[in-house]
Amino acid sequence: MSSSDKKSKRKLHQATNVVHSGRDPHANFGFVNPPVYRGSTVLFPTVEKLLKRDQPYVYGRTNTPTAKALEEAIAQVEGGEATALTASGYQAVSTAILAFVSAGSHILMTDSVYHPTRSFCDKMLSKLNVETTYYDPVIGAGIEGLIRPNTVLIFTESPGSQTFEVQDIPAIAKVAKKHDLWLLLDNTWASPLYFRPFEHGVDVSIQAATKYIVGHADAMLGAITSTARAAPHIARSKDLMGVCPGSEEAYLGSRGLRTLATRLAQHQKSGIEMANWLENRPEVARVLHPALPSHPQHDIWKRDFLGASGLFSIILKPATPAQLAAMLDGLKLFGMGFSWGGYESLVIPFDPSGYRSATKWEAEGPALRFHIGLEDVDDLKADLEAGFKRLGAAR
Ligand SMILES: Cc1ncc(COP(=O)(O)O)c(C=O)c1O
Repeated sequence: MSSSDKKSKRKLHQATNVVHSGRDPHANFGFVNPPVYRGSTVLFPTVEKLLKRDQPYVYGRTNTPTAKALEEAIAQVEGGEATALTASGYQAVSTAILAFVSAGSHILMTDSVYHPTRSFCDKMLSKLNVETTYYDPVIGAGIEGLIRPNTVLIFTESPGSQTFEVQDIPAIAKVAKKHDLWLLLDNTWASPLYFRPFEHGVDVSIQAATKYIVGHADAMLGAITSTARAAPHIARSKDLMGVCPGSEEAYLGSRGLRTLATRLAQHQKSGIEMANWLENRPEVARVLHPALPSHPQHDIWKRDFLGASGLFSIILKPATPAQLAAMLDGLKLFGMGFSWGGYESLVIPFDPSGYRSATKWEAEGPALRFHIGLEDVDDLKADLEAGFKRLGAAR
């Protein structure tokens, strides 16, 4: 899409936006997809232009047309002013936080955050004399009580990694605004389609594009989308740290984005069906899925989100490690591995009790995180049914 079309395209439905944003086929000889520009050196036609850096692209690290096409597309779809791509979702987290802190700063971090984000705070920010206070993810407006004179940002992730607490982002945004703090959100679970961060007062939205945007488990990629006020800080942080995505990865992100709305609708449908089915299994104590009425923050999810992706957790009734292994090791369709957001179903066991610090993780039995992929749900149920049988037979 040419930039002059951008404004009018913003009014289109999101399923149309993901197909058309960040593309201008006729600028590429009519080829539908933006091509992969690989490169480090970018030549200048004159010394004057070189000295003034007077052209759209100056060096492979600072940007390429391939990355820029996806940046424009995500900014438009997520509703922010600008997007900066990074080499991974984790790098999007670290680049975004480092954009706003300096030695002596204090930040507020949700206790339910993706564990490597926690490690970044505990092992890297601490070295830079930046202090982190973890807070209860469901604290809402109560977060005001944790603000100190040197607090600079509030980091949220909703729902929380693995444990799926839904945060009251509008209430937290109100506090952030009152105290002039930056509000950051890891919006990966909802993707740019199912939560509109900038309509809820968020300044910076982080996507592990590795998940649903790439969508095929074949590339690492991150995206930081921000408001006009936050964008220059993000751009500077990205530049100073030499953050850049690979061209091939940016291309795969663009290609994945085109089918995001369709894939996500199916992940949502199958995910809710599987969550309901699991909720009725005798082996399951609880299901942690924001779209289920049994979820403690279901009302907040209903109020703020536009949908649910395919990732949720369950707590089993008490089971031995041998029973759990019998169930998981024999699964045929559910793969076991980290990450999610691809087309395939996945499962991992998890236990946050060892690292939570502001809240206590209490579970009746072992916890499992599921990603429901694009397979037929009857086949997925049969796979799990056989797994539950093995669990019941083991000791
Ligand atoms: C919520 C969330 N944020 C960030 C990341 C990091 O993304 P990446 O694996 O691309 O570094 C992940 C990865 O699992 C994640 O689940």
